[in-house]
Amino acid sequence: MKKIRSKITLTYFVLTFVVVVALGIISSVKIESYFQVRLVASLETLANVVSLIIQEESIVDAEQIDSRIKTIAELETVRISVISADGTVIADSDVPFDKITEVENHFGRAEVRTAMSEGTGVVKRESATVGREFMYVARRISLDPETDLLAAIHIIRIAAPLDEVHRNVNEIRSILFIAGLTVLLLVLAVSIVLSKKISEPIVGLANSVEEIRQGKLEKRVEIRTNDEVGMVARTLNDLLEKVNTDIGRMKKLEKFRSEFLGNVSHELRTPIFSLQGYIETLLDGAIDDPDVNRDFLQKAYSHATRLNNLLGDLINISQIESGEMKMSFHNFPVKEFLENVIREMHPVAEQHHIVLRGRYPVHADAVQAYGDKQRLLQVMRNLVDNSIKYNKPYGEVIVSFERKKEAVQILVSDTGIGIAEEHQPRIFERFYRVDRDRSREVGGTGLGLAIVKHIIEAHGSKINVTSTPGKGSTFSFELKAV
Ligand SMILES: Nc1ncnc2c1ncn2[C@@H]1O[C@H](COP(=O)(O)OP(=O)(O)OP(=O)(O)O)[C@@H](O)[C@H]1O
Ligand SMILES: [Mg+2]
Repeated sequence: MKKIRSKITLTYFVLTFVVVVALGIISSVKIESYFQVRLVASLETLANVVSLIIQEESIVDAEQIDSRIKTIAELETVRISVISADGTVIADSDVPFDKITEVENHFGRAEVRTAMSEGTGVVKRESATVGREFMYVARRISLDPETDLLAAIHIIRIAAPLDEVHRNVNEIRSILFIAGLTVLLLVLAVSIVLSKKISEPIVGLANSVEEIRQGKLEKRVEIRTNDEVGMVARTLNDLLEKVNTDIGRMKKLEKFRSEFLGNVSHELRTPIFSLQGYIETLLDGAIDDPDVNRDFLQKAYSHATRLNNLLGDLINISQIESGEMKMSFHNFPVKEFLENVIREMHPVAEQHHIVLRGRYPVHADAVQAYGDKQRLLQVMRNLVDNSIKYNKPYGEVIVSFERKKEAVQILVSDTGIGIAEEHQPRIFERFYRVDRDRSREVGGTGLGLAIVKHIIEAHGSKINVTSTPGKGSTFSFELKAV
């Protein structure tokens, strides 16, 4: 996974390399031509100086010229030739004066010919005699023709070896080379560090994504930068959060569902088995026994009823939980509503030898609450039913309400067995019963309070319980008041 990093490094390096090499080539060519131009200019000046000296010193013979140019040539480390219009060499600093006639005619030299026609001729060439490169600058001059000799002089040619130019250029070239190499190495080092810095978050991201792909959904991408990479990392984390939440919710739902199914089939089995048992006994002959037949039929009937109630509750709760519960909210008079509940539940209370009473505040008749009366009736039935079932013989159940600031609080209190604190938060769960045996005895499945909780929450409210074991319990909730 080092690919992106080496790409970045290589790009930087190649770019710098190209730039450095191009600059090196251009500048070394430029430098060479600069030195040569300067040399040519100084040789031109020297040619002018020589012609001036010859003119000013009123030289009369060639030998005098010869010794003059030899002095200057030695001083300047150049070669000076004095040439006539037809190309004959009159004097040459590199040739002894007595050998001058042996020097070959110079008319054929390119620089001489150019100087004849254009005034100045410049040629760079290797000297056949010494094997070194020379710069030849020839200048046409016209002296005051005081003597024949002066009249004959036509060209002054200066030749200088290019060794020094080469030396200078090479020196600068090697400085350039070292500088270029230093720049390259520096860029390489910087780009290695930089590419690490740039690629690290990307590589980190890629690694994390790979881990996530392999199923480590709890993994989070480290957010190292505030740039686009950081943005991607953050988005990825958000996405993971959502996926995990969804998975969690699905798992919970799945667990919930299988638990529910298990509970339901378990709860259904009991009344069905009992029903089967009584009917079988009756069929096996008990039907003809007048001592028991009525009793068994009565029991079979009550189990069938219980089965029916249970199915009703199950349908109810599944409707509520799947969100199919249709609510219809209205204002209704609270006292009248509670009196109806008491009237309806009165026979049940009586059966259990429980006193069921209502207790209302002053001006109770005027108080109205806002809610779904049908559903609230179901709530009250369940609460009162519990208060009767989990009461003591000759106990009491009181249904009451209180006017709060903007609400009506409805309460169901009993003098029953109470609920220990550790059970209180759990009694609203489906199928949760504090004492399974006692509940089953009284026909409870543990769905009542779950339904109550759902309905009260659909009213935007909360169901509360306060209870002291052995003393009694109070269930209460609030409704919006008008
Ligand atoms: N007033 C109360 N006093 C004491 N315990 C109570 C009271 N109300 C509820 N409980 C406890 O809470 C449990 C759950 O109540 P819930 O109404 O949900 O179920 P249930 O009455 O057992 O069955 P169902 O209401 O489905 O017939 C009960 O089994 C009981 O243990
Ligand atoms: Mg109940």
